Amino acid sequence: MIRVKNVRAGYGDGPDILGGIDLTAAAGEIVTILGPNGCGKSTLLKCIAGFVRPRGGTVEMDGSDVSNVPVHEKVTHHRVGFVPQTDNVFSTLTVADNILLGARHLPAAECHARYAELMAQYPSLASKQDRKASALSGGERQILSLARALISDPKVLLLDEPSAGLSPLMMHEVFAAIAAIRDRTGMCIVMVEQNAFEALGVSDRAYVLSLGKVAIEGRSEDLLADPAMRHLYLGGEPPAAERRPRLAVVG
Ligand SMILES: Nc1ncnc2c1ncn2[C@@H]1O[C@H](COP(=O)(O)OP(=O)(O)OP(=O)(O)O)[C@@H](O)[C@H]1O
Ligand SMILES: [Mg+2]
Repeated sequence: MIRVKNVRAGYGDGPDILGGIDLTAAAGEIVTILGPNGCGKSTLLKCIAGFVRPRGGTVEMDGSDVSNVPVHEKVTHHRVGFVPQTDNVFSTLTVADNILLGARHLPAAECHARYAELMAQYPSLASKQDRKASALSGGERQILSLARALISDPKVLLLDEPSAGLSPLMMHEVFAAIAAIRDRTGMCIVMVEQNAFEALGVSDRAYVLSLGKVAIEGRSEDLLADPAMRHLYLGGEPPAAERRPRLAVVG
């Protein structure tokens, strides 16, 4: 589905932020990208989405090279949905209008059908359709930004820190919603996250970036069980609430 091959990228005439990244993501899986602040996680997601053009290497979708395909064509032609890290909802617009913004390129009938489906899937949004997005909680805003990406029925969903700033309970709900999307649709989901334990708990595979390179990659459950990984990249022991047997966390 997605194949990133030896991608180098940076901004303006600055140095390379990504120094040769390889990554794959298949339909029906959630791939998590982890790593410290400023290591290039968002830059990598923007390369896949088309906001940043690679300086070298390629980004392929379904076998074709899309490295230089602009964002709008990625959305319409390759059916890519992108939820950015910040400013992901328009506070002065209603919930309904925020979602419909994601469907401007769709025929009206399809748009209405998809909108109705989303309202059935996310009752917390349905009850607030006519409210301004500024009146939503942080978690509801994240679900709203997901719904805006989903209305165009993407095949690929790119999420930049979907749990940022959320309480543990809301974080859990947002991750559950993302896992439900994968299980229901078989979509290919790539998400950048800081909440490593929770993200690894719902994802299938993960990449840990360090200084613009892939430092560790593997199945999420293997990463969770790896003591060195925990020590270096997950900040030591998991919080008590995260020590769930299903995650196979050691210790
Ligand atoms: N538009 C931009 N112009 C110039 N430099 C940028 C731009 N966006 C990001 N950078 C730089 O690229 C580097 C990587 O940024 P990026 O946003 O990809 O990191 P990140 O891993 O997503 O960090 P965080 O965890 O803080 O979100 C940083 O040094 C940042 O200052
Ligand atoms: Mg980022």
